Amino acid sequence: MGASNSSFLHLFFFLLYFAWATIVDASSFNILDFGGASDGKTDNAKAIKSAWAKACSSQGKNTVLIPKGTYLSGPVLLEGKCNGPITFQLQGLIKAPIDMNSYGWFSFSHVDQLTVTGGGAFDGQGQKAWANNNCDKDPNCKLPISIRFDFVTNSIVQGISSINSKAFHMNVLGCNNLKFISVRISAPENSRNTDGIHIGESTGISVAHSIIGTGDDCISIGPGNNDINIFDVQCGPGHGISIGSLGKYTNEEPVRGVVVQHCSLTGTDNGVRIKSWPDSPKQGIASNLTFDDIIMKNVQNPIIIDQQYCPFGSCNQKKSSLIQISKVKFNNIRGTSASPVAISIICSKTFPCQNVELSEINLKYNGGDSTSSTTTNVKPRVSGQIYPSLPSA
Ligand SMILES: *[C@@H]1O[C@H](CO)[C@@H](O)[C@H](O)[C@H]1NC(C)=O
Repeated sequence: MGASNSSFLHLFFFLLYFAWATIVDASSFNILDFGGASDGKTDNAKAIKSAWAKACSSQGKNTVLIPKGTYLSGPVLLEGKCNGPITFQLQGLIKAPIDMNSYGWFSFSHVDQLTVTGGGAFDGQGQKAWANNNCDKDPNCKLPISIRFDFVTNSIVQGISSINSKAFHMNVLGCNNLKFISVRISAPENSRNTDGIHIGESTGISVAHSIIGTGDDCISIGPGNNDINIFDVQCGPGHGISIGSLGKYTNEEPVRGVVVQHCSLTGTDNGVRIKSWPDSPKQGIASNLTFDDIIMKNVQNPIIIDQQYCPFGSCNQKKSSLIQISKVKFNNIRGTSASPVAISIICSKTFPCQNVELSEINLKYNGGDSTSSTTTNVKPRVSGQIYPSLPSA
């Protein structure tokens, strides 16, 4: 009797605590209470900004709620620092204007303990922007990134989608400890510059259990990144998972500590790639890079290091890259190559790659025919089975 009384008491206090925690923790600010509407013509930018301002300035843990429905919205800057953890609960679909001339569409800036979740989607409506994209000719072209994370810390983006961005889907800049879990990103194969997630100048970023198909890199890891983890990402279509491009600008910091693990690439131009420009303006470093347990399905260049990266012939290819690549591991990479050269490791003449290791590689050409490999300015170490084998030094 005593025992059951006390467990009853426990349950009572638990429920009391739960009710209290719910009240204290869950202040929710619904954009519909701030002038928002899913009527297909209201620009919801103002309502979203007002709800954010209220949630951000309130004490405790607060939520901006975008309920189910379709909402038009122009550019929105959502800034911290807030007075507590903040959740952007996107249950609906937000659509961008067809024409938009800004650097970002949704920008989360200087926020700590941000959660972006809710099962909803950001639709960049990029079709017209792709058709008019002239960024290969005009370096000053301006196309909005769909979702920017600038100086966001200790945060998580989980269970949301980004579709048809005008330019990059998501851009991570100057962030620390930011996790992307179960995100879905999609745009057509022929949509230009629609990188899935671009990561720059950040530390402790992870992308896990996500599906990315787009017209450019699924994930690109630029200069100045440390401790980047990509796990269980399905990529395709797209240009693959890339480190780089590196060595374009003078202010670039090293890339150190990247692990790409348990991923699959399907029908992509590249599989796992490291790329640097041949005419780097200053010395740089890319080190401690691991690619492990990767499945390739019909990938043009499954394993590629390209230190002569020069799209559109826009650089001096007679020069050689000043980026020192070192401590690179490719392990357990298998599947099919859509071209005969399955492994291509072209390193810098000035700074040959150091400490490149390959083990357990099995890449067949279209499933049947033989593949080959090519290496320049590198003496890779090999262990276990390697197919195609590397040219003997
Ligand atoms: C290499 O990178 C991994 C992943 O970021 C990190 O855990 C490890 O400490 C790094 N190793 C060295 C020697 O820097």
